Amino acid sequence: MHDGIFSPDSYVAQRRPLAEASPLPGWCYTDNAWYERELDAIFHREWLCIGRVEQIPEPGSYFTIELVGRPLIAVRDSAGRVWVHSAVCRHRGCIIAEGEGKCRSFICPYHSWTYALDGRLVGIPGSPHPLAGVEDFRNEDYGLAPVRAETWAGFIFVTFSDNAPRLMEWLGELPRFLAPYRLEEARQTHRDIYDVDCNWKLWLENAFENYHVATVHRKHYDPTKPQNWQFEDTWGRGPWEAMFSRRSVVAYSGLPEIAGLDPAHAAGLYHVWIRPSVQIILTSSYMKYRQYLPRGPHKLRLYENWTFPQSTVARPDFTEIVGPAYYHKYSEIIREDLGINPLVHRAMQSGAYLPGRFSLEEHIVHRIANYVLDRIVGPDDPPSRAAREGHPQADDRAAVNA
Ligand code: FES
Ligand SMILES: [Fe+2]
Repeated sequence: MHDGIFSPDSYVAQRRPLAEASPLPGWCYTDNAWYERELDAIFHREWLCIGRVEQIPEPGSYFTIELVGRPLIAVRDSAGRVWVHSAVCRHRGCIIAEGEGKCRSFICPYHSWTYALDGRLVGIPGSPHPLAGVEDFRNEDYGLAPVRAETWAGFIFVTFSDNAPRLMEWLGELPRFLAPYRLEEARQTHRDIYDVDCNWKLWLENAFENYHVATVHRKHYDPTKPQNWQFEDTWGRGPWEAMFSRRSVVAYSGLPEIAGLDPAHAAGLYHVWIRPSVQIILTSSYMKYRQYLPRGPHKLRLYENWTFPQSTVARPDFTEIVGPAYYHKYSEIIREDLGINPLVHRAMQSGAYLPGRFSLEEHIVHRIANYVLDRIVGPDDPPSRAAREGHPQADDRAAVNA
């Protein structure tokens, strides 16, 4: 382990304004102690997106997800309420459900303890009763551990923290910013899952800079049409960043525009990063969201989720068009990134990387680095932060960004 990796003094070059700053050092992507601290200070504290409500449309519908090592179940109960529970049995800890499906209750595959959709322990089958003679045992003390969950625009978010603010408060201005896209009417139609040998931040950073497109995605890129990405000023507006272009290589078409989308939004495309690990791509015809699921410092599981407006999904030609015009085109792009990100990770593991300098196109990469540093080594003082982010005065809105 590098000496001083948790000392703020080790990150002077990253804390400077973008035009003067360097990327994070390699150990931030590969060191086990650093990763453990990311779990504690980031993934166990923030709100994390686990999926969408339309994945569990009916009473008893459920899906499971492993989120930073914790197996979870999202389920709709008979009253229509969405719950998220730990999927770990309260008897001796077997995982009670995997994959997705529909059920009336969850029965542990080990000794059949049985849980209602709302997580209550409702049965311990066997005769004579398997817990006969056990003292002070009450079913109500052994339900599945609940996980704090709230929804916004169809997205289900969870947090492992009791101290996190309510989801809508935490999101700040983001719901208003994205309102034109009517995300509550989006329907998830497709998911691709990728297991990648790289740190979660490497792919996240890759996804928020356009600089690599002319090289890595040159087959899809027209150098005579610069993409001119513009960065949204999110100072004091919540835990997110956004960039807009009229000419992204993923501005696919063939299916209708989102109903009521104004011409300014319909003319381009946003990439939105919601800290720490969600990316939303908003275009005139579709919304894609990506979940970055770390599985240790060296492994990333990526969920690529496609959604379209309900009215688009209902078209008779939807399936025929969506494969070739959207899913397949995008999978070509992602294969190109699948080649690059593990190469960078190997270099980080080698210890041979001496941090270089950012291009100004790497504005959000710089924000990602500074967010991670805020959480892992501690926030820097408000005036420095204001200077770094191009705001001459630190005001009380800096606290919202912290
Ligand atoms: S571990 Fe689940 S019933 Fe025993
Ligand atoms: Fe890429």
